[in-house]
Amino acid sequence: MAMDSSPAHTKVSLTGIKPTGYVHLGNYVGAIRPALALAEKYESWYFMADYHSLTSMRDAQALRHYTRSVAATWLACGLDPERTVFYRQSDVPEIFELQWVMSCVTGKGLMNRAHAYKAARDRNRENGVEDLDAGVNMGLYNYPVLMAVDILAMETDVVPVGRDQLQHVEYTADIAGSFNHLFGEGYTFKIPLPMVPDESTAHTLPGLDGRKMSKSYNNTIPMFGTEKELEKLIKRIKTDSVPVEEPKDPDSAHVFQIYQHFASPAEVAEVRARLEKGGMGWGEAKKVLFDAVNAELSPLRARYNELMTPGNTELDEVLATGAVKARKRAGAVLSAVRRAVGVA
Ligand code: ADP
Ligand code: TRP
Repeated sequence: MAMDSSPAHTKVSLTGIKPTGYVHLGNYVGAIRPALALAEKYESWYFMADYHSLTSMRDAQALRHYTRSVAATWLACGLDPERTVFYRQSDVPEIFELQWVMSCVTGKGLMNRAHAYKAARDRNRENGVEDLDAGVNMGLYNYPVLMAVDILAMETDVVPVGRDQLQHVEYTADIAGSFNHLFGEGYTFKIPLPMVPDESTAHTLPGLDGRKMSKSYNNTIPMFGTEKELEKLIKRIKTDSVPVEEPKDPDSAHVFQIYQHFASPAEVAEVRARLEKGGMGWGEAKKVLFDAVNAELSPLRARYNELMTPGNTELDEVLATGAVKARKRAGAVLSAVRRAVGVA
């Protein structure tokens, strides 16, 4: 189904992905899979928030590489560019013009209370740094305004995000409300709603050390290392020292927690029973886990590697098509906003 022929009542779901590293199994289970399922029900807009990454990244080659890698990962996982608008934030200059307008209707106090900014100040305080704003750039400070514009420029209805991003979506509603209050006669922004995973269904995938798998903890299993690398990392997952023949508690085992996301209910039940009974060692459990993860990722890895091959322009073509669609929508919003505020 092409975007333009989708029924008028289809709601828009939009989310941004910050390309700051390789996509790992936690991102796959917690973000990619649910986002692709959502694309069945919503008109979906997914984009690489590369300019958001610039608040912390200072290596041009790395930013370029991760942006391609993250985009290739989503396509390899099954994102269908015919049904999803898939683009790079930096390809849509309209967003950055709108950002100025929206920053002029945003209270500075609101930004002072933003979690990421407050966390940076707390770190300085804990480290005894006198200037609490040391190391804080204006990009980090303005981050929520740019994110609000990402959302508002595309007339978004719902924003699927992890819990850590909830405040940003609430800020978006505040900022849009403030614009609507001041200039609503000329243009009215749609107020978006966050969509956060339910506490009871939001499983957090553990990393190698058992803490939440996260780039910030350096404990990840990247999706698309080689098969050998995947095997090696799975062998490094922390386990207890219960001997092979003894009964084990599957639910507290990181190996089993990850396995549950990659095997069928029948396979999971079988491994659970064997662990509980005793006789299955962690070495064997890891082998079973590797086989399951590798079976799911192998075909995706092949597609990823193809998309990342130098000279293959498929990725650029997909992103260029997405940019045209995104610019068209953001351009219409920007024109209306320019008239509403009096510069056109
Ligand atoms: P990281 O912690 O590695 O920097 P991000 O914060 O960029 O990951 O998260 C991107 C998306 O992946 C978010 O939607 C987040 O909820 C999801 N995610 C990240 N780590 C995990 C995990 N360990 N388990 C489940 N979902 C995760
Ligand atoms: N800030 C989000 C993150 O760190 C990424 C992001 C940027 C985003 N713009 C967005 C998410 C718009 C949802 C909607 O994960």
